[in-house]
Amino acid sequence: MRLVLLGPPGAGKGTQASNLAAHLGVPHISTGDMFREAAASGTELGALVSSYMESGGLVPDDVTISVVRRRLSLEDCGMGFILDGFPRTLPQARALDETLEEMDATLDAVVNISVPDEVLVRRSSGRRTCSRCGRTYHLEYDPPEREGLCDDCGGELVHRSDDREETVLQRLHVYGERTAPLVDYYRSRSLLRTVDGDSSIDEVFERIRSALEAAPE
Ligand code: AP5
Ligand code: MG
Ligand code: ZN
Repeated sequence: MRLVLLGPPGAGKGTQASNLAAHLGVPHISTGDMFREAAASGTELGALVSSYMESGGLVPDDVTISVVRRRLSLEDCGMGFILDGFPRTLPQARALDETLEEMDATLDAVVNISVPDEVLVRRSSGRRTCSRCGRTYHLEYDPPEREGLCDDCGGELVHRSDDREETVLQRLHVYGERTAPLVDYYRSRSLLRTVDGDSSIDEVFERIRSALEAAPE
């Protein structure tokens, strides 16, 4: 299964992609996670992307596209993948089409997770992320068993630096300008499934599963 998860910051892409990846047995590929890892380990890529992420802007297309092309060429993508947070611009969507063509593959579906803006801000402000393995929690909606520590690896939970309210609002603005047009792009290719993401994590997961079995919009 080759899937793209589309949706604004805080919509639940990472949460759902990680559950879907476990369910389908394919890798979860998050450009945001890859960039954060690069920034944390101080690589050249990390130094390049940090300032864009801190300000809530987008990393340039050429950088992002080459990272994803390299990732999709790895062997574990042979049975499929779930892309979370890529593509985010029309040039990225076209580059993905080209890359898939070279792989002699096609996308099965694009799931658009739709959530009202005020809920998005609440989700981002309560989000905590494991500094070691990247797993996501929410102080109110999805808390860890032991306060401040990851259930999976015991790592320290941190508030993402781009989850400050003013940066979240900037990310929402950028989403509207640069990424929202992809909804029409994928609708016109008969790949789009819109799912109401304003419900519990488990309920949204079930909605995605049934949307994948239904006809595209
Ligand atoms: P990225 O890391 O992709 O951030 P994002 O798209 O802004 O999305 P988020 O990760 O904030 O939200 P999410 O939808 O994954 O929600 P989550 O599941 O965590 O990108 C970060 C930055 O990297 C970008 O700003 C950009 O600079 C750069 N970048 C990345 N990709 C790029 C690209 N392709 N091109 C250029 N630049 C790029 O959930 C949010 C919270 O809500 C969590 O706390 C979770 O526990 C909780 N939650 C989830 N679902 C529910 C639910 N149903 N009910 C209640 N709580 C819920
Ligand atoms: Mg995410
Ligand atoms: Zn962890």
